[in-house]
Amino acid sequence: MDIGGPADALSEAVTTLNRYISAQFDSPIGLLLAGRPPLRPGPRRALRTLDDIVFGIIRTRRAGGGGYDLLTTLLELRDEETGEGMTDRQLRDEVMTLLLAGHETTANALAWTWYLLARHPDVAEKLRAELGAVLGTRPPGVDDLPRLPWTRMIIDEAMRLYPPAWFVSRRAREDDEIGGYRIPAGSNVALSPWVTHRHPAFWPPETFDPARFTPERAATRPRFAYFPFGGGPRLCIGNTFALTEAQLVLATVASRWRLDLLPGHEAELEPLVTLRPRGGLPMRVRRA
Ligand code: HEM
Repeated sequence: MDIGGPADALSEAVTTLNRYISAQFDSPIGLLLAGRPPLRPGPRRALRTLDDIVFGIIRTRRAGGGGYDLLTTLLELRDEETGEGMTDRQLRDEVMTLLLAGHETTANALAWTWYLLARHPDVAEKLRAELGAVLGTRPPGVDDLPRLPWTRMIIDEAMRLYPPAWFVSRRAREDDEIGGYRIPAGSNVALSPWVTHRHPAFWPPETFDPARFTPERAATRPRFAYFPFGGGPRLCIGNTFALTEAQLVLATVASRWRLDLLPGHEAELEPLVTLRPRGGLPMRVRRA
């Protein structure tokens, strides 16, 4: 559905909460408060904004508005034993997850992709050549994607260097031992694609090189040398959707436009829950 109306309010609220949650990871008091409703007025307001938008979407759909989509499916679900549907609160949690996990990550993946393309004109040139050869002047469709391997490899390589979800964590339920390290029950274990994706054993040397992701070269690496979408039972549910969307956006925009970094602008990392360029990424847009 089109959420163009409240997009600015939504974006501001997401930024506030993204900063608030990541600040919690940095402080012992924050960790104790994690998972509770925010105490500070700014984040509290931001959460209310998100709730208003999400409950609004659910209300509209319950009243029969909008099309048939994932939310319709969630609304139609019935518990096998009790026959009951999901409560508004359960729906709100699902919709909130999909809304936030589905936008913030792909947007950051694309932002870093433009940044890398601007800094590597040879890669961008090869992209334009592929798009020109396969699409000519028409816009891309999903059926074109298998014939745009360089477009896809650029996104793979951009998410290697700048994984939007730059760390994931788990809390150990029981005592364990991993690779000789003792993990006491209750400890938090963090895994960082940012770190693993730059491990010199798997990724030498540290440059932007999409050709690392040809099927032949990808097959030489261990499965978890690259995990921008996590893995195991909690593997990102939207990974195929995200890659399709990112490839389509990149192909559509790059066929028609060049994006150059403003002279002297250095992108700075803002590692929140997601990995953002601090202050955004001011670029100049020219016709290709
Ligand atoms: C480039 C884009 C994306 C990246 C890098 C990404 C990354 C991730 C990662 C690393 C996880 C695992 C978190 C963990 O193990 O703790 C995850 C989970 C998840 N993602 Fe994504 N994601 C992306 C796009 C999307 C999209 C488009 C959607 C929805 C439409 C989505 C929905 C979810 C959901 C619902 C989960 C939780 C799955 C579960 O716990 O069973 N993601 N994502």
